[in-house]
Amino acid sequence: MDRENLRPIFWEGSQLRLLDQRQIPGKKEWFIAKTADETIFAIREMVVRGAPAIAITGLFGVVLELKNIKSKPDYSELESITTRILNSRPTAVNLRTALQEFHSLLTKEFFESNEFGLFVQKAEEFAVNVLEEDIRNNISLAKNGLSLFPSSPSKISILTHCNTGALATGGHGTALGVIRSLRDAGHDLTVYADETRPYLQGARLTTWELLEEGIPSFLITDSTSGWLMSDRKIDAVIVGVDRVAANGDAANKVGTFPLAIVAKHHGVPFYIAATEKSFDFKIRSGKDIPIEMRSEEEVTRLSFLKKSDGSPILDSGVIAPKEVKALNPSFDVTPSDLITAFITERGIVKPSEIGLVFGDLALEQARR
Ligand code: MRU
Repeated sequence: MDRENLRPIFWEGSQLRLLDQRQIPGKKEWFIAKTADETIFAIREMVVRGAPAIAITGLFGVVLELKNIKSKPDYSELESITTRILNSRPTAVNLRTALQEFHSLLTKEFFESNEFGLFVQKAEEFAVNVLEEDIRNNISLAKNGLSLFPSSPSKISILTHCNTGALATGGHGTALGVIRSLRDAGHDLTVYADETRPYLQGARLTTWELLEEGIPSFLITDSTSGWLMSDRKIDAVIVGVDRVAANGDAANKVGTFPLAIVAKHHGVPFYIAATEKSFDFKIRSGKDIPIEMRSEEEVTRLSFLKKSDGSPILDSGVIAPKEVKALNPSFDVTPSDLITAFITERGIVKPSEIGLVFGDLALEQARR
């Protein structure tokens, strides 16, 4: 079921309405993008984030660019905006996949034909389809995830990282989508949500979604997973992904790799929920996945330290010496041997089965 109240992206014909995820949980505000540049801003500044949501937003950026063309359409301008959109965030492959599919369907010849109006109409239809397809695929993979757990209502505890819910996708969620399905299937769920330093997608967004859905949860710090798995029974870790290489190595929010090691140590299954749009067969192993480096300020600043009257102790939220250098890779790569299985819309797929299950996709990617 599509969670309309949590949907982050609405196409309104001449503008894209995005739930401003920088403001959550404080307030629910909308960011309106009327140009491709505004969608690039929204992606780079994390108004919208999460691999599938970034891809959908980028596609609508192209559509806005096409709709805003006033003079004779020039293909090189379309190419240049597509490249800028593609470079807005480099790790998640979904954006690249979406833009490649766009270009193989909507060709240069079509663009330069006398049917530019039809080209724009088809581009818009394509973007709307990708949005709707993402929701459908999320719902399918979430249902497939049920097969990994008992069929009769049971007590189940899940640990998750970052935000992989409706907010990160067209509107249902991958890992959080599986969690929703488990709840809908009548299980007695407890979810442990990693805060996900430094950008706090877990603390700010996942807990918000879980509360909106009435799913019992605890927020934990990222370094709590070792204690948690040795103190109480965790049935599974389920996370999302930004890019899966051909050998099954998977890039996801930084902190995923150590979480997988802790899970392996405790014998807890480690699942990655993803649609086929996250698989990149052009990349042989995780070593080739580009890792986005983000600003030092995300690591060195916080603003939660308050005096008893509520005023900030550190006006600027600085929590580290001014001179300190910080490293802020936004993602890490979990080697395939730590991944129990991928939960996909095609079913449950072990890392060693990827080539078999997604053989057609690998061929298609090689052709593009
Ligand atoms: O930096 P973010 O918030 O875009 O990172 C998001 C993640 O790492 C998610 O786990 C991933 O995109 C999968 S979302 C379905």
